[in-house]
Amino acid sequence: MPYDIIIRNAMIIDGTNTPAYAGDVGILNDKIAAIGELSEAHANTEIDAQGNVLAPGFIDVHTHDDTNVIRQPECLPKISQGITTTIVGNCGISASPATLTMPPPDPMNLLGQQADFQYPTFASYAEAVTAAEPAVNVAALVGHTTLRNNVMDDLFTGATDEQVAQMRHTLREALEQGALGLSSGLAYASANASPEEEVQQLALELSEFGGIYTTHMRTEFEGILGAMDEAFRVGQKAKVPVIISHLKCAGAGNWGRTHDVLKKMDNAAAHQDIACDCYPYSASSSTLDLKQVTDDIDIFITWSETLPEYAGKMLKQIALDMDLPLMDAAKALQPAGAVYHCMDEADVERVLKYKLTMIGSDGLPNDPHPHPRLWGAFPRVLGYYSRERNIFSLETAIHKMTGLSANRFRLAGRGEIKAGNFADLVLFDKNEITDVADYDRPIAAAKGIVAVIVNGNIAYTEKQGVISRAGRFLARRSQ
Ligand code: ZN
Ligand code: CU
Repeated sequence: MPYDIIIRNAMIIDGTNTPAYAGDVGILNDKIAAIGELSEAHANTEIDAQGNVLAPGFIDVHTHDDTNVIRQPECLPKISQGITTTIVGNCGISASPATLTMPPPDPMNLLGQQADFQYPTFASYAEAVTAAEPAVNVAALVGHTTLRNNVMDDLFTGATDEQVAQMRHTLREALEQGALGLSSGLAYASANASPEEEVQQLALELSEFGGIYTTHMRTEFEGILGAMDEAFRVGQKAKVPVIISHLKCAGAGNWGRTHDVLKKMDNAAAHQDIACDCYPYSASSSTLDLKQVTDDIDIFITWSETLPEYAGKMLKQIALDMDLPLMDAAKALQPAGAVYHCMDEADVERVLKYKLTMIGSDGLPNDPHPHPRLWGAFPRVLGYYSRERNIFSLETAIHKMTGLSANRFRLAGRGEIKAGNFADLVLFDKNEITDVADYDRPIAAAKGIVAVIVNGNIAYTEKQGVISRAGRFLARRSQ
């Protein structure tokens, strides 16, 4: 049987968390057609893997690439890490369905400027993604804050019954058009005033469509256990799976509490469908949030609209330069972006290792000095955490970025190397793979990604960069 592509002599790690095995993979059109010993077969393109690892293309379950997959369709920060699918619309903020009459409120401004929000319906967003021909596949959640911003003049209050009804209607329409589910960002001021009941009402729309609920919880600081209860209640009442976004214990007073947090995950998982995602760093990043300003930890300013000259400096230093207390300096910088060194490394490892944890970058592609997770999250898990720190096997690391993720986000035909699945694949050198991006020089492609295949097309090689843009918009449960 002829194939379009044969990858020979690969060490196949198939995404199911089972041991690696040696073999060849044959690709025909956009699918994996055969796996095994294909020495008798031929193909137009034959790739000698030379014993390198062949894995399912990585799925970045937590991103803010909503408008970037359209504006920068080469998606270099993604594809250069071996990512073949990006899930957008996390943390309550999505580019669609959105109608903006004013500049985007914090943190919707992480996604772009007012002119970048051009998608009043989910379908119009899906069409725009398809037309842009991004290098990676794109699936999308609908953000609670985006829905609020469509119908509310004042985001610092709860929505009225009428506004909730309007939001439910819009969400329902988006689900009909293929949205994966609903995300919330309750820690942010633009959603914090919304009571649990408001989110609950929206979540009720999900189960009929097989939608999921993802949440950047109301707090990741001292009150985290209560915030988890809230998230689980929403899922339980709406009968939908819950995914806790970027699970962490933030704030110096909260370090070490992942023991309690993971015990709580276990307890909830015993009777409802839950999971979480995590990025492999002990610093977080977002817009500059005054509630998080403290001198307990280092806070690095990545951008400032008001005082751009202070971007790239530590807040402590800026406060000294301005001769102001820390909080006043922070106020003067807003709106601004920040990296907060707010976590304990042992907590990060504990969460990464947890059986229900998937890898999500939470990369911020519009930040001029982005947190290094934007370019480095996936290689860092494989290189630093698996190879060097040895916190889990390569098979487990890959499962957390492929099979588990496709299963939890309900992406059909992806996330595992098996015959009939879409040919989204990454070939990498397990001894070489390293995240190059760091806090000082955060814009840098990873080392060790040999080649990436998207829907049966060679999309990227380390030597040639982006070769093709064969990503698709993935509607919920679509092929
Ligand atoms: Zn978030
Ligand atoms: Cu996020």
